[in-house]
Amino acid sequence: MTELEIRVAPQLPRDERGALFQFEDDPWGVNHLGWDWREPELSFGGYENDKPVSHVGLLFHPLHLDGREVLVAGVSSVITLPEARGKGYARRLMSEAAGEMRRRSVDFGALFCSTELRPFYASQGWQLLDHPVTVDQSGRKVRSPLRLMLLPLTDANWPEGPVDLKSEPW
Ligand SMILES: CC(C)(COP(=O)(O)OP(=O)(O)OC[C@H]1O[C@@H](n2cnc3c(N)ncnc32)[C@H](O)[C@@H]1OP(=O)(O)O)[C@@H](O)C(=O)NCCC(=O)NCCS
Repeated sequence: MTELEIRVAPQLPRDERGALFQFEDDPWGVNHLGWDWREPELSFGGYENDKPVSHVGLLFHPLHLDGREVLVAGVSSVITLPEARGKGYARRLMSEAAGEMRRRSVDFGALFCSTELRPFYASQGWQLLDHPVTVDQSGRKVRSPLRLMLLPLTDANWPEGPVDLKSEPW
């Protein structure tokens, strides 16, 4: 069985980004939104025989919530190449990313999720947020049609009601 090697870096090399994120037109099915997205600040790459096959990105976003400063880690660019799917790679990289969030005393992991994948993230402790979130887009505030999932990591409370993430989406 092929071993997965995990490499962590601020950014993937350009050719690896192409191989992982542009192997098809719209791998995340979000192009219809026409949004600008924030880039990850930390990449967890999974490699089979030196070839990148899977990826989870993280960015760090301080946010004022209910009078308290919390640190949010946005999880983004979660992908496994079609031929490498179903081997537990995304789950392993998500687990590595969660470890990094804990080391950095992140209060909440946060990701925008398609409906079909909610069970996948829920099985790793992520919770679907019931309330709407607003994101920045071209200088405007836009209500996200994608629901947010949260991974609570400290005793911080996420407030009831709508939240402005004060950020472009990730
Ligand atoms: C989602 C994705 C990253 C999973 O990668 P992977 O390395 O195959 O993941 P794992 O092998 O660790 O786990 C696969 C899990 O994803 C679930 N899954 C993958 N695609 C799914 C889909 N379209 N609908 C429902 N579940 C799906 C599988 O049921 C499986 O769940 P299980 O572990 O509970 O059985 C991969 O399918 C992918 O790249 N999809 C396209 C991009 C995408 O949607 N990214 C997530 C954005 S939120």
